[in-house]
Amino acid sequence: MSESSGPEGAETPVAHIAHNARVWNYWLGGKDYYEVDQRVADRITRTYPSIREVARADRAFLGRAVRYLAGEANIRQFLDIGTGLPTVENTHQVAQSVAPSSRIVYVDNDPTVLTHARALLTTSPEGATDYIDADAHQPGAILDAATDTLDLAEPVAVMLLGILNFIADTQEAIRIVETLMEAVPAGSYLVLTHPTLELGGSANEEAMRFWNENATPPITARTRAEVARFFEGLELLEPGIVSCAHWRPGHTADDEKTVAQFGAVARKP
Ligand SMILES: C[S@@+](CC[C@H](N)C(=O)[O-])C[C@H]1O[C@@H](n2cnc3c(N)ncnc32)[C@H](O)[C@@H]1O
Repeated sequence: MSESSGPEGAETPVAHIAHNARVWNYWLGGKDYYEVDQRVADRITRTYPSIREVARADRAFLGRAVRYLAGEANIRQFLDIGTGLPTVENTHQVAQSVAPSSRIVYVDNDPTVLTHARALLTTSPEGATDYIDADAHQPGAILDAATDTLDLAEPVAVMLLGILNFIADTQEAIRIVETLMEAVPAGSYLVLTHPTLELGGSANEEAMRFWNENATPPITARTRAEVARFFEGLELLEPGIVSCAHWRPGHTADDEKTVAQFGAVARKP
């Protein structure tokens, strides 16, 4: 792939800097990335080889959490902010495979994700999907647009997977979570993953430093205590805030490994 080529079907300008959505897609084994994304991703993988396991464990957590919510928890509405590029087992596919009437709103601010959004807009006839091109720094605007598809008087699973780490200011990240969770009723859920240095070690730290010098948006790791703050006022489901690979693990070898990414699900009382 040359520097001027890019993700299939993308109409975005030539990329000169690696973007998170495309690099994440590369680590997940997708094909929607530019050469610059691959260069940065490969350099980080050399420094921190388990980054691919982090990406895979995060997506596997998404599947397990959504399956639980659409099944046992009876949730029919999902607001997935920081969706990423379409991959296998997107939120609507998992939710609608369990409950076909599920309604899903996706949100991302990356132009490449917007270009590929139609792949996220397939839906079961009984359900609905929508895509909002918006920034998580504007939760009020996201909620306004989401009401075209979601009924905010009924419970919603608010999903923030791998995105609050791109909100540098912790107070701002807390305000975003609070705004979203205040807008949804009791019985709603918060689903979150977040990178941490507490489980990773120095290679992870070096990889994040390299990312922040060479790619966008800048990333921030947080401690368990900082991640716990996002869940204040909510009831954490078992097993609490753990490496996302260990949240109600399945039976694959990947679920055995500890990855440096917290994952948790909580219910609004
Ligand atoms: C690490 S990926 C996670 C994708 C998916 N949620 C997952 O867990 O596999 C983070 C996504 O958040 C998006 N993102 C980053 N900052 C954002 C912001 N301020 N507003 C909306 N989306 C953002 C990126 O474009 C990217 O697609």
